[in-house]
Amino acid sequence: MNYDPLTHLYELQYHTYRDDLHFYAKLAQDSSQVLELGSGTGRVSLHLARRGAKVTGLELSPEMLNRAREKATSENLALELIQGDMRSFELGRTFPLIIVPFNALMHLYTLPDQTKALERIYAHLEPGGTLAFDVYVPNFGLEGVLRHEGETFFDGDGSRTDVFVLQRIDRLKQMAYTQYFVDTADFDGRLERGFHTLEQRYFTRFELEWMLKCAGFEGVKIGGSFEGAPLDSSSYFMVVQAKKSSSAGD
Ligand SMILES: C[S@@+](CC[C@H](N)C(=O)[O-])C[C@H]1O[C@@H](n2cnc3c(N)ncnc32)[C@H](O)[C@@H]1O
Repeated sequence: MNYDPLTHLYELQYHTYRDDLHFYAKLAQDSSQVLELGSGTGRVSLHLARRGAKVTGLELSPEMLNRAREKATSENLALELIQGDMRSFELGRTFPLIIVPFNALMHLYTLPDQTKALERIYAHLEPGGTLAFDVYVPNFGLEGVLRHEGETFFDGDGSRTDVFVLQRIDRLKQMAYTQYFVDTADFDGRLERGFHTLEQRYFTRFELEWMLKCAGFEGVKIGGSFEGAPLDSSSYFMVVQAKKSSSAGD
């Protein structure tokens, strides 16, 4: 999906989201280079680069990528940011670690798209290399109810933005369509409404295991938190690690 129109909202909602950063930073600290797919506005890539990792970020949306570049420039951080599609990229080199944080794989809506992306990831991993990613545990929640989930943002000019969400679920397609109504009231009380739709496809746990096995990965581990808790019925995330065999290509 096209994240360009969502860039501003994404930054408002998630620039302070940090739950996953320590997990990816720990993996990166043992890797000479890291490739992040779906690197967005650089939330994770920049964090890793600040800690000295050699990072390449690949992102489909030019607007998300521009925002990441602006942030990298303002902090004088050296990282490589490339516009590309995880279903078709070819960088001509391999990496010991490829990460796909914060549900980016949930934007692969069809089996051919998932297969293509996994094939590209496998081709860009060194033998013995690690793929790590996280996706939401399927949560087919309340549908058709407009909710305010506590997302209110205050701007320096006295304006206030409230985010309302309305979800539609297609259980058979494992799709969640989240509509965002973004209401910004200026200092004088004038209201403007923005509207965006986020489309995400849930993975089930065993689907992930099969998918990774079929794509050639081994040593698949699926945890239930970034702190290493096992996956159980209270888990919110599936935190996945998989390996390319060290003898691959022999
Ligand atoms: C939920 S955001 C995650 C951004 C970033 N990884 C983070 O943790 O903040 C998902 C990102 O994946 C990107 N994306 C979606 N489909 C993609 C594709 N086929 N190739 C590359 N990036 C893609 C979107 O444009 C978006 O920036």
